[in-house]
Amino acid sequence: MAPLSPAKTLAVLMVMIHLFSSVTAVSIGVNYGAFADNLPPPAQVATFIKERTYINRVKLFDCNPDFIRAFAGTGISLMITAPNGDIPSLANATAARAWVAANVAPFYPATDISLIAVGNEIMATSDKFLIARLVPAMRSLSAALSAAGFHKIRVSTPHSLGILSASEPPSSGRFRRGYDRVIFGPMLKFHRETKTPFIVNPYPYFGYTDRTLDYALFRPNPGKYDPATGINYTNMFDAQLDAVYAAMNRLGYGDVEIAVGETGWPSMAEPNQAGVSVEDARSFNLNLIRKVNSGKGTPRMPNRTFETYIFSLFNEDLKPGPIAERNFGLFRPDLTPVYDVGILRGGQSGGGVQPSPTRRWCVAQLGASNQALQDNIDYACSNGADCKQIEVGGACFEPNTLLAHASFAMNSYFQKAGRHDFNCDFSQTGVITATDPSYGTCKFSS
Ligand SMILES: *[C@@H]1O[C@H](CO)[C@@H](O)[C@H](O)[C@H]1NC(C)=O
Ligand SMILES: *[C@@H]1O[C@H](CO)[C@@H](O)[C@H](O)[C@H]1NC(C)=O
Ligand SMILES: *[C@@H]1O[C@H](CO)[C@@H](O)[C@H](O)[C@H]1NC(C)=O
Repeated sequence: MAPLSPAKTLAVLMVMIHLFSSVTAVSIGVNYGAFADNLPPPAQVATFIKERTYINRVKLFDCNPDFIRAFAGTGISLMITAPNGDIPSLANATAARAWVAANVAPFYPATDISLIAVGNEIMATSDKFLIARLVPAMRSLSAALSAAGFHKIRVSTPHSLGILSASEPPSSGRFRRGYDRVIFGPMLKFHRETKTPFIVNPYPYFGYTDRTLDYALFRPNPGKYDPATGINYTNMFDAQLDAVYAAMNRLGYGDVEIAVGETGWPSMAEPNQAGVSVEDARSFNLNLIRKVNSGKGTPRMPNRTFETYIFSLFNEDLKPGPIAERNFGLFRPDLTPVYDVGILRGGQSGGGVQPSPTRRWCVAQLGASNQALQDNIDYACSNGADCKQIEVGGACFEPNTLLAHASFAMNSYFQKAGRHDFNCDFSQTGVITATDPSYGTCKFSS
């Protein structure tokens, strides 16, 4: 091979720098669902996300204080969810202020709560009582946040694509009759006024057939032509977002920002299901991350970026339904990646997420009862564990939760007792992990 001329060497270097910088600039969100009995404690998950990945946004399906606190000081933007059942009372200004005082004020700004979702896929519940109070609840929560001085926290609510009565071709996109002007008009007006995104959950996974698998997975395919616009769509994700755009534009709100609250692809399903494998899931999520980081937008929304949250961070073993439901995760409960989509700092192997045979920690199982956690603390602290750190003023006092304190005490006991698997049993409420649960100045021994 001939040596490269200086000019060519420079060109190659520039390309490498470009590739490198585009990798490091990756920005992506994930849904942190925890419908599982085998996940690490939230503080460990938050540290992992911050230190080992390029994930910079996390979405929670509730407002569990243990999870919100875990992200304090990480710089990760958090979307929290007000439970569906809170919607009727949130429509009342007094109750909305109380909600902010209880669920936001204790954690903000240490935790960068950037968005509050008012319920999840409310339109899909067909609950007329909730649906009628959704926009008033969003307005009243937004006013309560302003009154508290939290002007940067946005308010929205995620929708399934069931809000559309037509979406194929994308130019035909329209909201369901009856909801279009009564609910979506006022909601989009709210989003425009507050400069907040309309959140949708587009899932090509729930729309593909054998014939459109490549189109759904962003792979080379014949494309789908929209005769009304002359646009030849090359992937279903663009088509779904443009159908939402068409519906919004029909009501005069094409300028309102769109965010993607959930999208994803499972890596495992029933053995006879075509289009589901580790390679298919990797193809979808890798191309999705490239797409939303390209800044190219969609054919109807050129150059727009969409704040996007992949479903999901973890495989969740307790989710009911078909096998696929439990296999949407980018990561396994032990924090090893299910496949490589380029979001690990230092790359797949250099990311330090492989289990190490020599360094192991013991932490409390998520979902363990408060009684069990307290028993574990009492047992560990009276049997040699170093429990000074979890006392007031200690490096591990915050977050001040039983789960966090138990993990610290249980690990200390586990290390001192000889690091046998049975030293982390704690009546089956302890879990051994290969990922360092340390965070901030709180160091877990190993
Ligand atoms: C809002 O809730 C408060 C406290 O429960 C109640 O006193 C007040 O009447 C409610 N306001 C409206 C407009 O319903
Ligand atoms: C759409 O694009 C695909 C892929 O580039 C191409 O093969 C196909 O002929 C195009 N179809 C139309 C109707 O333009
Ligand atoms: C999108 O960005 C490209 C490249 O910067 C530019 O040429 C094009 O005019 C932009 N399109 C719109 C609609 O802003």
